Amino acid sequence: MADTGITFVRIGEFAWTRMEPQPVQFDWAWLDRAIETLGAAGLKVVLGTPTATPPRWMADRHPDMFAMDRDGRPRGFGSRRHYDFSHAGYRAECARIVTAMAERYGRNPHLGAWQTDNEYACHDTVLSYSPAALSAFRDWLSRKYQSPQALNRAWGNVFWSMDYDSFDQVGLPNLTVTEPNPAHVMDFRRFSSDQVGSFNRLQVQIIRAHSDAPIAHNYMGRVTDFDHFKVGADLDIASWDSYPLGFLSDRIEATEEHKAHFLRQGDPDNQAFHHDLYRAVGRGRWWIMEQQPGPVNWAPWNADPLPGMARLWAWEAFAHGAECVSYFRWRQAPFAQEQMHAGLLRPDSAAAPALGEAAQVARELTAMPDAGTCAAPVALVFDYESAWAWETQPQGHDFDYFRLVTSVYRGLRALGLNVDILPPDVTDLSAYRMVLVPGLATISAPLLAALTTYRGRALVGPRTNSKTADFAIPVPLPPNLPGLDCTVARVESLPPGIEVPLQGGGAIRHWHERLDGAASPALVAQDGHAVAMTAGPLTYVGGWLDETALGDLLRKTCQEAGVAVTDLPPGLRRRDTATHRFLFNYNPTPVSFDGITIPTAGVHWSPL
Ligand code: GAL
Repeated sequence: MADTGITFVRIGEFAWTRMEPQPVQFDWAWLDRAIETLGAAGLKVVLGTPTATPPRWMADRHPDMFAMDRDGRPRGFGSRRHYDFSHAGYRAECARIVTAMAERYGRNPHLGAWQTDNEYACHDTVLSYSPAALSAFRDWLSRKYQSPQALNRAWGNVFWSMDYDSFDQVGLPNLTVTEPNPAHVMDFRRFSSDQVGSFNRLQVQIIRAHSDAPIAHNYMGRVTDFDHFKVGADLDIASWDSYPLGFLSDRIEATEEHKAHFLRQGDPDNQAFHHDLYRAVGRGRWWIMEQQPGPVNWAPWNADPLPGMARLWAWEAFAHGAECVSYFRWRQAPFAQEQMHAGLLRPDSAAAPALGEAAQVARELTAMPDAGTCAAPVALVFDYESAWAWETQPQGHDFDYFRLVTSVYRGLRALGLNVDILPPDVTDLSAYRMVLVPGLATISAPLLAALTTYRGRALVGPRTNSKTADFAIPVPLPPNLPGLDCTVARVESLPPGIEVPLQGGGAIRHWHERLDGAASPALVAQDGHAVAMTAGPLTYVGGWLDETALGDLLRKTCQEAGVAVTDLPPGLRRRDTATHRFLFNYNPTPVSFDGITIPTAGVHWSPL
């Protein structure tokens, strides 16, 4: 590892049965030796708490510690993440093992960082319909509303005679005859997210009492089941697990043609989006905790990366400000669930192709130790609650918040722009010339105040500010933005293949609003009705724009905002750091741009 240029090694994150083979009988000898061995070679250790994999004996101590699915069935033992965030007994066991680890290793000189648990939410593990969750949910509701009458009013329970006389009558929003009240579902989503936050906080507080090493968690890609900004507020570093080919195959909606073209390179915007998102979650400090080094085992199809991609992905992360890129995993494990998952070494310990690329990046980094970040001209607001809102009430089958926001992100990146992602309670927009707020269910008071005095250009909508905090339709009707005489008079969702063509080119898909008001039309449908309206710095966009319409609107708005844009060739992406301009070629062929030819899977950088 040291010869390859590796400096950090993460260990321990699933090793509970080795640390505590039987209840309260610890065996630290192997871990002491591992940390000593790594440290003696000059490597820093990232120590994971093993709470994502409780041992089998734990299930005997706490038979009801398993989360329950929507049908009320407990999830079983035999893989991982088999616990309920609300189970008090399991939380106490986590506190016990984390305390033992923190006491033993908190001041170890070879400790570089901590990782809490592993990938909260992975394998659909945030929502649980268990008795433990029910009881904690009732407590959460009683703290929030204080009286059942207040809850009834907030949820609108008079509709269908759903009023409650006590918090003990409130159930979980599963197994209802038809859809549950969306306000009930939204509170359950908020509660479930808060449970992840308090579960993580418990570990953080224990570790901090014994250690000064920074604490991270490894988030996943395209996971919106809990509010990462809230969990991130308790941590020092945000990290995420980047599997570009797994994600392309598994969790990106794209045409077959797109998936075939990028099969061995990954989607050109997906990694960058998450880098920018987690830079925001980490308040500037972020890592890749797991980087795909070859074919993985878990996607529908598991392609082999093109030679050079492991290097490209690492450099792209550094150009977006990553402090560390760590590969998963060192050696391919010949047994159990992930035996088909590549590592930097093969199962026989011979080098796998990515080992040389990791070594190359390590050498290159010595010449450019700090890629740094620089101020972006454009910001995009991302909000986890809005993802829950539109899952709870999509109104059109394919209305997906993550896809809406990332479609806007793609449009910005195709114009060569650096983008910062902002949380929904941002108070100051003045650093940005342009701000985008698509699909934000409720505009927070601080963001509304910031928009009121904003001097750049803001593109807001569709669906933005269309719900109150209690998930009702606000009156005055949306978007209700300061100084913008524009009202959403009617909304409709559109099935695939149906579009509303716009004057000047492009169209609206998926979601279409009819706007009333005296503000100036900024986009007009071919039949003459306004679908976007402008006044001063604000433009409200009443529909989900296709690539053409979005590109045109972004170019026009950038020009008004004084933001220089460049139409990049497809599959080529650009990122400026404080000192350099980077180009990343995601195409399976070389690409020429600006007088430079960037080879297949190539990275090019030049001083700014
Ligand atoms: C991550 C996880 C790792 C490993 C990896 C396989 O989701 O954190 O433990 O399972 O995926 O790609």
